Amino acid sequence: MLAAVLIACAGHVAAAGDPVAGERKSGSCHACHGKDGISINDLWPNLAAQREGYLRKQIEAFRDGARKDPIMQPLVKTLSDEDIDDIVAFYSRLSGEEAPRPQRH
Ligand code: HEC
Repeated sequence: MLAAVLIACAGHVAAAGDPVAGERKSGSCHACHGKDGISINDLWPNLAAQREGYLRKQIEAFRDGARKDPIMQPLVKTLSDEDIDDIVAFYSRLSGEEAPRPQRH
């Protein structure tokens, strides 16, 4: 059982995305989620430093229609599994602290 889990994990690492390709592929996301992964308004979530597995699950859920949002669904509809791996590798590696946070009132 443990061996199976370890093998599954190793397989996953081998399939890990490329953050450099992810930066390029996420160009259409930057307008809302920010080039540094910090969103520009209160309704759009930050993606910087978020867990890779969580980001992947959410993007796949939008793509496959399990999570519904009229903005997000069309934007990720054409992404391949490899595109998603690259994009989540990019966003998860951002510190989330590079840009000043919006002023909270
Ligand atoms: C026009 C603005 C806009 C663009 C462009 C955009 N998003 Fe989003 N994104 C949103 C909004 C709004 C939500 C919140 C949806 C909700 O309330 O469920 C969201 C949610 C998400 C989430 C879920 C975050 C969480 O914490 O659950 C992920 C992941 C995400 N977007 C990734 C992307 C990716 C990858 C791209 C580019 C392919 C992208 N987004 C482009 C507006 C945008």
